[in-house]
Amino acid sequence: MERILIKDILSDAYLGKPVTVCGWVRSKRESKGFAFLVLSDGSTQETLQLVINSGAPGFQQLLHCNTGAAILAKGILKESPAKGQKFEMEVSELEVFGEADPEKYPLQKKGHTLEFLREIAHLRPRTNTFGAVFRLRNILASAVHEFFQDRGFVWVHTPVITSSDCEGAGELFSVTSFDLENPPGKDDGGIDFSQDFFGRRAFLTVSGQLEAEFLAMSLGNVYTFGPTFRAENSNTTRHLSEFWMIEPEMAFADLKDDMRLAEDFFRFLCRKALEKGEKELSFLENHYKRISPEELRKLADTSFVHMSYTDAIKELQGAKERFEFPVEWGSDLQSEHERYLTDKVIKGPVIVFDYPKDIKAFYMRLNDDGRTVAAMDMLVPKIGEIIGGSQREERLSVLEERLRHSGIPVEHLQWYLDLRRFGSAPHAGFGLGFERLVQYITGMVNIRDVIPCPRAPREIGF
Ligand code: 4AD
Ligand code: MG
Repeated sequence: MERILIKDILSDAYLGKPVTVCGWVRSKRESKGFAFLVLSDGSTQETLQLVINSGAPGFQQLLHCNTGAAILAKGILKESPAKGQKFEMEVSELEVFGEADPEKYPLQKKGHTLEFLREIAHLRPRTNTFGAVFRLRNILASAVHEFFQDRGFVWVHTPVITSSDCEGAGELFSVTSFDLENPPGKDDGGIDFSQDFFGRRAFLTVSGQLEAEFLAMSLGNVYTFGPTFRAENSNTTRHLSEFWMIEPEMAFADLKDDMRLAEDFFRFLCRKALEKGEKELSFLENHYKRISPEELRKLADTSFVHMSYTDAIKELQGAKERFEFPVEWGSDLQSEHERYLTDKVIKGPVIVFDYPKDIKAFYMRLNDDGRTVAAMDMLVPKIGEIIGGSQREERLSVLEERLRHSGIPVEHLQWYLDLRRFGSAPHAGFGLGFERLVQYITGMVNIRDVIPCPRAPREIGF
């Protein structure tokens, strides 16, 4: 089938020429010897109007061309006399691949709620909204690679199944081949994991960082881009149980380098979305009114505010706002605190750095004050944390001490400690939650609406 994509047809190159298009019917209208079909093929935000004269051979087929039907149309591309579109196609032949019963096809009308569309996740990509979101997702994914490849970072593939809990938060999904009704027992009553598939406990990874570290300590600058999993029971608009993360890791780099990279990266992604997703962004802005292309452009061009955790706490303690969670030095920033900083204080994104060591992961480098670590979080308006990163602890004895303190068993982390035994060097990296980025750029309120098949507590329907 030599079909032409609608996104290509809408450039002048095909004017007056015979073309073939395929797609799904959005709507059908008949009047005075003519019928009009609006066709979408997913390649662009725009649709193509097909005009069929009652004398054309394909006219009989129209009966089967209801909203949702998959069709092929051949004809000549003409300038459209109607307002709102440049071209239309005068159809000579029409073929119907698959009909859609008007009584049953759920996407009859415009204006379904996002909640309803979540229940038909397999059909929602056919809507303008989800077409825009998923095309922007693709633009951003491709921009991630462009950014790092242009800077000489090596894309590395870290495992999905692992035996370590990188974040030490215990939010792990177990991987086992045991018959769960009847796993082999130990004398003391527990389960005997030495008989399991890997000979010990295994999990879905929460982060590729630890492996990215050993790859950085040999290849220099690397990045991962893959799915990560968290069995965190948070039913919020910004948490998924399965999400994609991008984790760059740089050898011979400190926290400042890390923050600079994070900022450059984030701004680059905003710019690419504007450059390549203009139609999608303006559709989303018109319909959801969250972030405008102007705001994005401003973001792409300005430097971020940097604020130490200690200053952030002072700012929060001076706030008139009443918070649900108490603010005191040493406690983690809750999303209400993050949002106060971005939405009210800074009115834009902010990078908070040097967090107390006790609320951060074991691998973060201890600062000279002995109570903070070289960590940074990038917070953005409405969403909060979008990036979390740090300089890594490269001193063996300090790392061992922190591991002991955290209670994480070290027997399986000897390879990680080896990196501090053999040719250790300062290094740093961060993780960007890809869905939070897509959420930010598209303005979708719920993170479940930026990934085709969302995984969340009690949610695995598609
Ligand atoms: O802050 P996190 O937990 O950091 C790490 O995993 C580090 N190992 C990263 C590194 O330094 N290489 O997660 C990083 C980012 C968060 O800032 C957030 O954007 C996203 O991952 N994230 C989630 N996104 C969706 N759903 C969840 N449940 C998420 N948990 C974290
Ligand atoms: Mg974090």
